[in-house]
This record gives sequence, C-alpha cells and structure tokens, in this order.
Amino acid sequence: MSSYTADKKVFMKTFGCQMNVYDSERMGEALAADGYVETSEVEEADLVILNTCHIREKAAEKVYSDLGRIRDVRDARRRAGKDTLVTVAGCVAQAEGAEISRRAPVVDLVVGPQSYHRLPDLLKKRSATGERIVETAFPEEEKFAHLAPARQVRSATAFLTIQEGCDKFCTFCVVPYTRGMEYSRSVADLEKEARALVGKGVRELTLLGQNVNAYHGALRDGSEATLSGLISHLARIDGLERIRYTTSHPRNMSDDLIAAHAEEPKLMPYLHLPVQSGSDRILAAMNRKHTAEEYLRVVERIRAVRPDIALSTDMIVGFPGETEADFEATMDLVKAVGFAQSFSFKYSPRPGTPAANMDDQVPEAVKSERLARLQYLLTDQQERFNALTVGRTVPVLFERRARNNRYLVGRSPYLQLVQVEGDSALLGRTLPVDIQGHGPGSLSGVIAGH
Ligand code: 5AD
Ligand code: SF4
Repeated sequence: MSSYTADKKVFMKTFGCQMNVYDSERMGEALAADGYVETSEVEEADLVILNTCHIREKAAEKVYSDLGRIRDVRDARRRAGKDTLVTVAGCVAQAEGAEISRRAPVVDLVVGPQSYHRLPDLLKKRSATGERIVETAFPEEEKFAHLAPARQVRSATAFLTIQEGCDKFCTFCVVPYTRGMEYSRSVADLEKEARALVGKGVRELTLLGQNVNAYHGALRDGSEATLSGLISHLARIDGLERIRYTTSHPRNMSDDLIAAHAEEPKLMPYLHLPVQSGSDRILAAMNRKHTAEEYLRVVERIRAVRPDIALSTDMIVGFPGETEADFEATMDLVKAVGFAQSFSFKYSPRPGTPAANMDDQVPEAVKSERLARLQYLLTDQQERFNALTVGRTVPVLFERRARNNRYLVGRSPYLQLVQVEGDSALLGRTLPVDIQGHGPGSLSGVIAGH
C-alpha cells in the first residue's frame, strides 16, 4: 500500500545578494514547518515567491515581467482547478509596497524582509479573507527570534546574519530605506545559532550584514561587543574552522578588527571593502564619508598586519557629475590597491534616493564605455591574483560537487574557487591542494600527497 501526502509545493526565485539567499532559506524553513516542500517547477507550485533585489539595474521591471509569466502559469493552473498564491518578497517589495499589487494584480502578498517569519500566517489570512495583503512595515519586534530555530544545513559553509540595515545613507543606495536602521543581534543568540550550525557539519561561517563591521551586539553583562569581539567568541567553537564577514564600510575598519586579522587564525585573509569611486568629489557626492586617501590608508593598515590579504570591492561608474578626470581617479585607485575580486556597476537611479534627482546624470554610452575600461582592469587584477597562487599549496575546504559531477569544489582562504578530482567523502574537510592552473574565476589542482 502506498501512502500519499498532499504536500503543498513552493517555488522560490531568489535575486541578488547573499542576504536574499539567506532570507530565502529562512522562508523555506518557515514554510516547511507549515507543510510546504520546495519545487523547481513553477507549473506545479501552489505558492510562488519572488525574493527580489533592488540593487541591479531595472530590477523592478524584471520583477514585473516575471510576474507576467507567472500570471500565465496561474491561469493555466486555475483552468485545471488548482490554486496558486503569488508572493513578492525582498527589497523591491519593501520599496514598492502597494504599487506592486496595483500594477500586478496577480500578486496576492507583498512582504518585506522584516515580516518573513509571519509568512505562513499571512498566506492563511490571504486564503481565508480573499484580500490581497501588503506587509512592509518595520515592526518593533525582532524578526530573528521568530524564525524556525532548526536550520537545515546542506553544506560545510553557511551564512549567519549578524546585523541588518544601515544608517549610512549613501546617496545612491536604497538599503537604508528598504532594510531600515542598523540592528545587531546579540552575541548569545549568534553563538547559539553558530553552535547549532557547527553541530550539523558547518565548518565555515560567513557573518553577514549590510554594514557588518558596524556590528554592536549586546553581551550578557549589558555591554556591547564589536565585530572583532564577536569573532573571538565564535572562534572558540570547536569544529568551526573558518570565519568570514561581509560587507564592510571603510569608516568602520577599527583597529581591533584589523588586529583580529593578525591574531585570529580562524579569520580568513579576505576582506570585501567597497570603495565605489576613487574621486574625492564623487565620494563626497555619494556621502561615503571617506576620501580616496583614507581608503588607501585603511588598506595600508590591514596589509601591514596581514600582507597576503585578498581585497575585494564594489565600484560604481557614471555617478551623476562624474567627469573623465573623476573616472581616471577611480582607475588610479584601483591600480594602487590591486583587487583580488570585484563587482562593478553602472550607476542607475533608484527612486527616492538623493542621487536620483541630481543634475548631470551621465549618458548611458559614457557609463558603458567607462564600465568596460574599469572591468578590463579589474579582471586583469583578478587573473594576476589567481596566477600568483599557481605553484602554491593552499588549504581548501570542500563544499560541493561541481554541476558536471566530476570535480569537488571548495574555496581557498582567499575565497578563490578551487576544483580538484576527488571522492565525495572529502566534502566538509579542509585539505592542502597543490594549485596547478587557473581560469578566469577559479583554480585547479590536486590534493597534496595524492
Ligand atoms: N546604482 C549602481 N550600483 C549600485 N549599488 C548600490 N546602489 C546602486 C545604484 N543605485 C552597488 C554598490 C553596492 C553594491 C551592493 O551595489 O556598489 O556596494
Ligand atoms: Fe548602502 Fe552600503 Fe552605503 Fe549603507 S553603506 S547606504 S548599505 S552602500
């Protein structure tokens, strides 16, 4: 006799940053507790969630065009007598709110990042009342406490959100409006979650926050820990081998955090430290609160204690008013630093942010041309960095099998992807690898002694 359980199916599409990947996992877990299983086929989904990102160009437009396709799927399912609930989550949801359900009536629920723990309840309310719901307020209560405590672990690496929101108000950025003011989780909470993850086989934790190095979480005695304090707490967990953190602001690279890179062996020699531009005029217009020189000084301080550190950055070209001379200053800064990895974007106006209303918006063709020049330089730097690793033996933590199933994939301390041939029994282990070759985005080699 076969038993049949009518599990509800959820299809999730995640856009954007690691914060969204993390949030999608949390939503998946809250829904699993309510009887949902994930599906990769949108046609069989009783619930469709788009977890959106506002950072990329035309993000909102892409969401609306996805919603058009989802409406067709919903209509086809409806003809077959099946219901489909459609949810928009993430930063576009937070930024656009009711506008989404006005423009796309297919949407049943619009939910901001602060309310994910209430997702099962909100869906029930939608089904019971038939009313479309927009839930994008920033409630006082703390959302982390409500999420399902038992996180499923699929890999030896995991993200741990330690901080959310940002009070920096860079003039191009929606984060302070979509994610709200800075909030740090307590050390006790994070330690508990980290221990649980390590208990399930996690060996590397990446501490996440939009402004992660502004972390200031409560300690049991009522005082506050800085990020370096939290790192030294977490480093005491047996079985946890590696700690990373992202994304940092140059203004918050405090002496104690820099010192941690020298003193804490579990803290990996990699730092994502966005600079955005190399021109002081543009940095001021961006409200970045630092100059190019100050950024270079931070780099100098960190290289003094950790000469091998791999630095990565985010860059924006074509910010309003950017001249050729400003752009040259950006190129000069990139040449002066030498980045191991980078993410670069054409400036694109975000409604509601100060820069969107600035005069002197840069023509699209100029932005494209500058971005191409910058990316050529940054790609070259990444290749050089990877080439320097060839011939060395580096410890690699193996995370997963490659899609083609032939290789094991892991990461070096410098966050480089490393592929080797090997047995799946090695997943979750850190082994020395002799690096023999490099491609544009990854290294290859053999496990030392094999
Ligand atoms: N235009 C282009 N890039 C942006 N970013 C943030 N907002 C914008 C925008 N309006 C980039 C920044 C940030 C990264 C996550 O996205 O470089 O660091
Ligand atoms: Fe946005 Fe980062 Fe600036 Fe905060 S520090 S406003 S998250 S770019």
